[in-house]
Amino acid sequence: ETKKWLVENVNLSFPQIKEAAMWIRENEVVAFPTETVYGLGANAYSYEAVAKIFQAKGRPSDNPLIVHIAKMEQLQPLVQDIPEHANKLINAFWPGPLTLVLNKGEGIAENVTAGLSTVAVRMPDHPVALAIIAEANLPIAAPSANVSGKPSPTTAAHVFDDLNGKIAGIVDGGATGVGVESTVLDCTTEIPMILRPGGVTKEQLEEVIGPVSVDPALEEDGQAPKSPGLKYKHYAPKAKLFLVEGNPLFLQQQVLAEKAKGKKVGILTTVENQVEYEADVILPCGSVKDLSSVAQHLYEVLRKFDEYDLDIIFSETFPEEGVGKAIMNRLTKAAGGDVVKCKI
Ligand code: TXA
Ligand code: MG
Repeated sequence: ETKKWLVENVNLSFPQIKEAAMWIRENEVVAFPTETVYGLGANAYSYEAVAKIFQAKGRPSDNPLIVHIAKMEQLQPLVQDIPEHANKLINAFWPGPLTLVLNKGEGIAENVTAGLSTVAVRMPDHPVALAIIAEANLPIAAPSANVSGKPSPTTAAHVFDDLNGKIAGIVDGGATGVGVESTVLDCTTEIPMILRPGGVTKEQLEEVIGPVSVDPALEEDGQAPKSPGLKYKHYAPKAKLFLVEGNPLFLQQQVLAEKAKGKKVGILTTVENQVEYEADVILPCGSVKDLSSVAQHLYEVLRKFDEYDLDIIFSETFPEEGVGKAIMNRLTKAAGGDVVKCKI
């Protein structure tokens, strides 16, 4: 039922792009690649079209969507004003993995923003996404194209596994690059606040506009996150995931203890460290030398664990610098906050 368009070269694939864009104009939902993860797009001006996104994903209706644009002219009508710091960030990072929360303008469907007075907007840095938005000539509301609760999709196959039969089409433009979602930054306050760590780091933002704050809920337990989406369980594989702080030897001890109880155990590690372990399934996720490679493969690896009938997964932790913040944010959510710490 769900149509697939293979797009290997944007210029040569114009008929496919045009058809996908036409379906969006007709208020159908279509998945397409962005530089971060695949998005599930619909006409941001149509309540009916946007409702189909919530329906297909099983997304709670209080969780607002990001509106995607391809040109700056599309921004003005979506927002009330563009503060100076937002302007600087747009110049520095768009197109790119930075979503700005701004005061909402007129006309956007009510369900896009889940009734909030603000709207989240970004310009994705992917030729296929940009071509579809430009061709549809509409702002496109698009959450990640996964079933709610699952890891975000970084390939068209992931989208197909989750949403085949539930959406009109999927544009297959290959694997995405960044691998984790955009940084969500609230620009409605004097000092902007990071609501979700992502592809653009706090350090990068501060280089352009000076001090940026971080939603306290991201750093401490027990606080309600300011971004509605972050309160939900997310990214979790079927087997119970634990993060392990400490060295490979300590992680291997956890594995042995579970094996002794007859459990089937998986390990999430890196290409360098995989040789240190013995377990039922060992999946390397990028290189310790390059956190962006870990981000790029994280969701694919979390999904891959579901192909084995595991009881428990132990994951290494990663330094919380640069994109490591986003990696640890997603892994912590996937683990439901469960961390095993080496006490020596
Ligand atoms: O990289 C990305 O951002 C991907 C690609 C497809 O663009 N999209 C994505 O969308 O991750 P989604 O819906 O999975 O996550 C959007 C996040 C949610 O946590 C949502 O609560 C938050 O952005 N959000 C959206 N509008 C908001 C608003 N007005 N205020 C605060 N948070 C908002
Ligand atoms: Mg999502």
